[in-house]
Amino acid sequence: MGKLAPVWSKLTPLQVVRGEGAVVYDRDGQAYLDATSGIAVTSTGHSHPRVVRAVAEQAARFIHAQVNIYTHDGLQRLADRLEEITPEGIDTFFFANSGAEAVEASVKLARQYTKRPNIITFQGSFHGRTAQAMAMTTSRTGYRAGYMPLPAGVFVSLFPGFPTASGTRRVETAEALDYLDYLLAGQTAPDETAAMVVEPVLGEGGYLPATAEFLAGIAERCRKHGILMIADEVQTGFGRTGRMFAVEHFGVIPDVLVMAKGIASGFPFSAIGSSERVMAAWPTGSHGGTYGGNPLGVAAALATIEVIQEEGLVANAGERGAQLESGMLQLAEKYPSIGRVQALGLMVGVELVDPETGAPDPGLVQELLRELLQSHRIIAMGAGTFGNVIRWMPPLVIDKEQVEKLIDGFGSSLSAVLGKR
Ligand SMILES: Cc1ncc(COP(=O)(O)O)c(C=O)c1O
Repeated sequence: MGKLAPVWSKLTPLQVVRGEGAVVYDRDGQAYLDATSGIAVTSTGHSHPRVVRAVAEQAARFIHAQVNIYTHDGLQRLADRLEEITPEGIDTFFFANSGAEAVEASVKLARQYTKRPNIITFQGSFHGRTAQAMAMTTSRTGYRAGYMPLPAGVFVSLFPGFPTASGTRRVETAEALDYLDYLLAGQTAPDETAAMVVEPVLGEGGYLPATAEFLAGIAERCRKHGILMIADEVQTGFGRTGRMFAVEHFGVIPDVLVMAKGIASGFPFSAIGSSERVMAAWPTGSHGGTYGGNPLGVAAALATIEVIQEEGLVANAGERGAQLESGMLQLAEKYPSIGRVQALGLMVGVELVDPETGAPDPGLVQELLRELLQSHRIIAMGAGTFGNVIRWMPPLVIDKEQVEKLIDGFGSSLSAVLGKR
């Protein structure tokens, strides 16, 4: 009998047979409200009919059109659409299959463009599971343990708002920028630094939005020293934060934008975008891949962008996110076990802490996730370096009643779990 590798951790024992909008159904026909979107992916909801149709029609034409061998009409159309929706100056695109692959591509581009070796990343970041992406990931030791040595040349700076393990102090923006200057003076000289790679909202690291001053400070230092600023918008992109891209909240324009997850409603597809000038420095043939720009992924991405725009999903993410955040803040007033509520659109993070000391309470997160699933049929997920954040990331099509259900279910779960302690 064939077996599945035990390396996959499991959030739930559910076996789903169908999905529609923000709901998935298991083998017994039981409906579950999916507040994870399969880790912030199914932005248009599960199996949106327009995405399904676009993929089916494309599959009937041709499934694979390897970009080095020949081209297909979708590639140019997708580049055109991305140029319209990405920040100013980003007009040239490369396609890959996963977030990690796109992050790696952005680093390879930065090294070719600058002819410099080193990369700066930020505390609590998650950039993926491949060797280079793992070397850039510091959201948890579990992602790297047992895999050393990782590629060298990665330097980690501080992220504002990041909590200390004791929960008693947070990194200030000025402190984070001071530390960045220290890195540039003491560890990786500017003329050896190719890029700074930053998530505008830490994802795996605990749903923590950056500050505008912090991102402006990174942009300023990058400009001054000829370093590329790379925004990893794998989790934050395509409307999730209430803007098409999270950097728009902060008024910064990165040199390179990394995209995946929400780009194609669940089809494995990713992209990086930059200016024609930067991309021109990437020698032809020095990077590529068998499947990048796959026609099915392109069709899914084109349909996804259309649905996001025509159904007003960016605005819905902002409105439903505000509703969810306000519900969580109300619960925080009642339950001192809720520490900070951190939100940007439909990325809503709720910290669970010891009410006496403020120390992280990862055990409470695990109990709450179980209770939400078993008693309310709500699928939610944790995050955070200390494992004490619940992150709400439902599909962008979620409606007002469904958000109400999430808030009520979370309130009842808190009451039940804390009552048993
Ligand atoms: C910000 C960010 N970057 C990169 C990745 C890696 O993406 P993938 O799992 O598709 O390789 C993730 C995945 O969670 C992510 O959240």
